[in-house]
Amino acid sequence: MRQNVIFDNDVLRALTEVLSELKGNKVFFLTDDNTQKLVLPYFNTLLEECQASVITIAPGDVNKNLSTVEQVCLALQKGGATRNSVVVNLGGGVVTDLGGFAAATFKRGIRFVNVPTTLLSAVDAAVGGKTGVNFGGLKNEIGVFCEAVAVLISTRFFSTLPLEEIKSGFAEMLKHGLLKGTETYQKLLSFDFTSVDNDAFLNLLTESVNVKRVIVEQDPTEKGLRRALNLGHTAGHAFESMAMERNKPVPHGYAVAWGLVVELVLSNLLKGFPSENLYGLAQFVYSHFGAFYITCDDYDSLLNLIHHDKKSVSGECNFSLLKNIGEVEVDCRVDDDTVKAAFDVYRDLMHI
Ligand code: GLY
Repeated sequence: MRQNVIFDNDVLRALTEVLSELKGNKVFFLTDDNTQKLVLPYFNTLLEECQASVITIAPGDVNKNLSTVEQVCLALQKGGATRNSVVVNLGGGVVTDLGGFAAATFKRGIRFVNVPTTLLSAVDAAVGGKTGVNFGGLKNEIGVFCEAVAVLISTRFFSTLPLEEIKSGFAEMLKHGLLKGTETYQKLLSFDFTSVDNDAFLNLLTESVNVKRVIVEQDPTEKGLRRALNLGHTAGHAFESMAMERNKPVPHGYAVAWGLVVELVLSNLLKGFPSENLYGLAQFVYSHFGAFYITCDDYDSLLNLIHHDKKSVSGECNFSLLKNIGEVEVDCRVDDDTVKAAFDVYRDLMHI
């Protein structure tokens, strides 16, 4: 099914239209403390017009859990939500993942609209129907595939974000560019973080989200092709977890950017990915994201984390790799020594 993704910086008008088409008997806006303060006031006239209720949760990944889902469901119940109601998830990935899950399961499913307010959620989390929460110490352990009835993508709320957040989302755009082809990818490499024009950025974002959309349409429940979207994430998640263990967490997208370097090294070693493109990416990542510091003493721990990734098959290292920009191969099994060799090259490229 083609998900209804709307790209429009006039979000108020676009959301008004979506809600009037959906004709829900009650509308609930789900925000976190940040989006309630910074973004919700923009929708004041609409809130009044549709007499919407607002549910607000505490921000951050630590609150992406079942007890927050319970809090949301109780608020829906108290607010008289029925199967014909609509939830508008206004926020970053935590709000869209958790709000989507609450809506998808409350009364066996009510409709929800995602209005992502961060680049990371616009380019990834809000689109494609993955909803869920963390559980038992594992990320996104409980959830369902359920698509929002509409996703409203805009760049107008990004001005409230720190540059680090923009860069974090941009790493997912790099991934989409690498999956799509040279033209899209090159535009990203010349992106200027110091002067972002909202409308020009919306065009780039549209191209990027459409890469994910085309893949998800072909494989909505991740049986095969959708694993292409894991590019950069197998090594990236290992870096992210290691950073947590060191009590120095890193933004998700930064870990993905470093993971992309490792996985393009593997692509170069195993699939003939061109060296000049590897060097180009490594240079871009080093200058905008810096490096994640590792020594050879960290290799076994990193491999252990990769083996235990929930997407790995029977404990082997399993990667999505590129033969070239725009040519992906999923389910590539790689032995531990080759991964270690890739970490060596990563350290060279990252000047460690
Ligand atoms: N974040 C990757 C996916 O949605 O499949």
